[in-house]
Parts: sequence; C-alpha cells; structure tokens
Amino acid sequence: MNAKKIITLEKQYVLQTYARPEFVITRGEGVWLIDSEERRYLDAGSGIAVNALGHGHPAVMEAIQQAMAGPIHLSNLYHNPPMAQLARDLCESCFAERVFFSNSGAEAVEGAIKFARKYARAVLGQEDKTGIVAFSGSFHGRTMGSVAATATEKYRAPFEPVMPGVIFTPFNDIEAARRAINEKTCAVIVEPIQGEGGVHLAQPEFPSALRQRCDETGALLIFDEVQCGLGRSGALWAHQAMGVEPDIMTIAKPIAGGFPMGAILLTQAVANAITPGDHGSTFAGGPFVSHVARAVFAEINSPGFLAGVVERGKLLEEGLQELTQNSSLITEVRGKGMMWGLVTTIPAADVVKAALAHNLLILSAGSNVIRLLPPLLISKREIELLLEKLQAALISSLSVELKKSTYSHTKS
Ligand SMILES: Cc1ncc(COP(=O)(O)O)c(C=O)c1O
Repeated sequence: MNAKKIITLEKQYVLQTYARPEFVITRGEGVWLIDSEERRYLDAGSGIAVNALGHGHPAVMEAIQQAMAGPIHLSNLYHNPPMAQLARDLCESCFAERVFFSNSGAEAVEGAIKFARKYARAVLGQEDKTGIVAFSGSFHGRTMGSVAATATEKYRAPFEPVMPGVIFTPFNDIEAARRAINEKTCAVIVEPIQGEGGVHLAQPEFPSALRQRCDETGALLIFDEVQCGLGRSGALWAHQAMGVEPDIMTIAKPIAGGFPMGAILLTQAVANAITPGDHGSTFAGGPFVSHVARAVFAEINSPGFLAGVVERGKLLEEGLQELTQNSSLITEVRGKGMMWGLVTTIPAADVVKAALAHNLLILSAGSNVIRLLPPLLISKREIELLLEKLQAALISSLSVELKKSTYSHTKS
C-alpha cells in the first residue's frame, strides 16, 4: 500500500490525538529512519527516548531471534526465567531490592502511587497519609493517577476529576517543597531531569533536600526516570549522579528496545507493604519482552558505553552552545548526556517542522523548547550532521519569521 493511502486511512480511522507529518517511515538503520520514498531522516527523537540503541541494533535483533524460541507470553501466574533474571540485573544496578514490571511509564507511575499508599497504611498504620507532592513542569503519564501528578493543565483539566490528593509545588524550590511535604504526604514524585516539561535539571541540592524532608515526614521518595533513565543522562540512572537514593523508581521507555515495558523498582522496606494479589498486570514482564530487555540492559551497562555517551554528549553540548551563540532564535541550552532542550523565541513546533524539511526528526517539549533525544550511540560524525541540519532548520525558521514580520508590516 502506498504512503498516500496509508495517510488517508490514518486520517479516516485512527483517533486524531497526534498530528503526524505527511510521510510514512518504513525502515530504520542505526540513527536513521527511511521513508517510503527512500528519504533518510536523522532520528534525534528516538521514538521519544525509546530507541536508545537506535534502529536494528544487532544485540536487540539477536535477542529477538532467541526470544522467539521461547513462549511469547505466559501470564504472571507462572515462573518466567528472563523476567527473574532481568529483575536481578536491575536490582544489582541501583538501590532497588525488588521489581514489579508494567507495560508503560504511566502504568509504572500508577503502581508506584499505589505502593506508596499501601505502604503508609500497611507499614506506618496511617489511613490518612495519602497525599502526593509533585512539581511544576512534571509529566508522569496519561492515566488517572499519573495524569493527576502531571502539572500541565491541558493534559489534566479535560478529564477531571482525576485522582485526588496531589499538591504541586515549584520544581527546584526547596523551601516551598519543605512546606508542601508534611505528615499527610505518602509520596513525593519527581523527575531527576524533567523531559516533557522542557528539559529541566534538578539543582544539585534539590534531590537531597527532598530526601531529607521525606525522611522527616515518613513520605516515600519516588524518582520517575521513565525518560531520563537507563543511560540517557550519561549515568546509568540519572539520580546516581546526584548522590541521592529514592525508595521507588519508575522506568520504561528504552528498557526493552522498543517493545512496551515499564518497571517499578523499590526497596525491600516498601516491598514489605505489598502482598500477593495487591497489584497485577496480564502482559507485564512477559518472557519475550524480558529477554529483549536483558539484551538492551546488558548493552547499555557494558564497560565504556556510558563513558561514550558522556563524551559524545559533551560534543553535542558544545555544538549546541555554538549554534545558540549564532542564532537569535535560541536563548538557552540545557541538558545532559543525550537529553537536550533548546529554548526558542518562536513556537518550538515551527522549528520541528523546519527540521523535517532538512530530514531531521526532533521533538518539542512544551511551546518554546525543542528537545533532542538522539540514540545513545549516535557517532561523532552523526552529531556533526545533526548540528548541521539543526542549523539549517534554524536558518529556514528565521527566514519564515522575517517574511511573516515583513508581511505584517506591509499590511499595517
Ligand atoms: C517522566 C515520564 N514519566 C512517565 C511517562 C509516561 O510514559 P508512557 O508514555 O510510557 O506511559 C513519560 C512519558 O513521556 C515520562 O516522560
């Protein structure tokens, strides 16, 4: 079926919650996506932070082949070797002692909130300790619980009433957070690096101040690393570079190389609150997806991999800083590793569109931030290409802006 027909079908039958550009991608190779007309796009969005190893990575392809030999699905009623091994791999990499698998980031956040509420009741014996503290700029997902903890009004308001009990307080404001977190708070949920909210890094003292206040009030600290986790920041887990450990961490996006998987990682102290039957999920942690996730995890956790992300991330940062100095459309660059946000003086969506014309796929994060989340193994040469294309997109955007303002002056 040709691209035009696919686009017509999409417009007629698929619920219109996304505005897709007018081409159809048919293949992927490394950091490149190729459309039905054989146009090659540099993928600096990685399927929104999912394709950390790019497209068609040999380790992922081999794991898929191997996984096909075993059952695709078992249900969580039976033992499943790759899931048990993946849980061990994840626990050995961080603070966690237990893992509950899910199918997405939102589901992981949803489960984390449930576990925090159960912990307050079952372990602390406090029925009314149900409050959740979240932050301005946060994004935690689209389910009724995770969207309740998501700051952006437009994602929440049309669906209210959402889960009650969430208080928002300004990100990186320690004093405000200290006031917001109290004896009635069961959990504080925070992204160590905010993604959708515009790529904001937690200031160095912020996570430790949250840890301290959680300890004072008996609240659990949840780090949502769905977007910034698993190598994206240059550390395996973003919080590990911050020297603070949470009680719960949610992960998802890149973990299974593009197959849907999320996970809630928790301490044994939190796990003590949970008994069989408390929570469940039909598909989560199935043998196929777990086998592939083990291969992705092994690759990202292999010696030298993260050092490479840090090194090439610095190169990308330098290039972005230089670009910013030479463009009136960018006022700030912020980020880490392979997670970057550029604050724009024009709608970010306009730059995303201009980038498409230069065969570059980038993302926006809010109305005035463009976001780059290239595959973690993007090479130095590909970073140069990315920067060239981005510069060309900024030049095109600028000339469109100039035309617009000349036109409005002529009219007035
Ligand atoms: C930090 C964070 N948490 C949760 C989610 C929700 O993940 P999912 O889309 O897999 O439900 C996202 C998605 O962008 C995210 O960035």
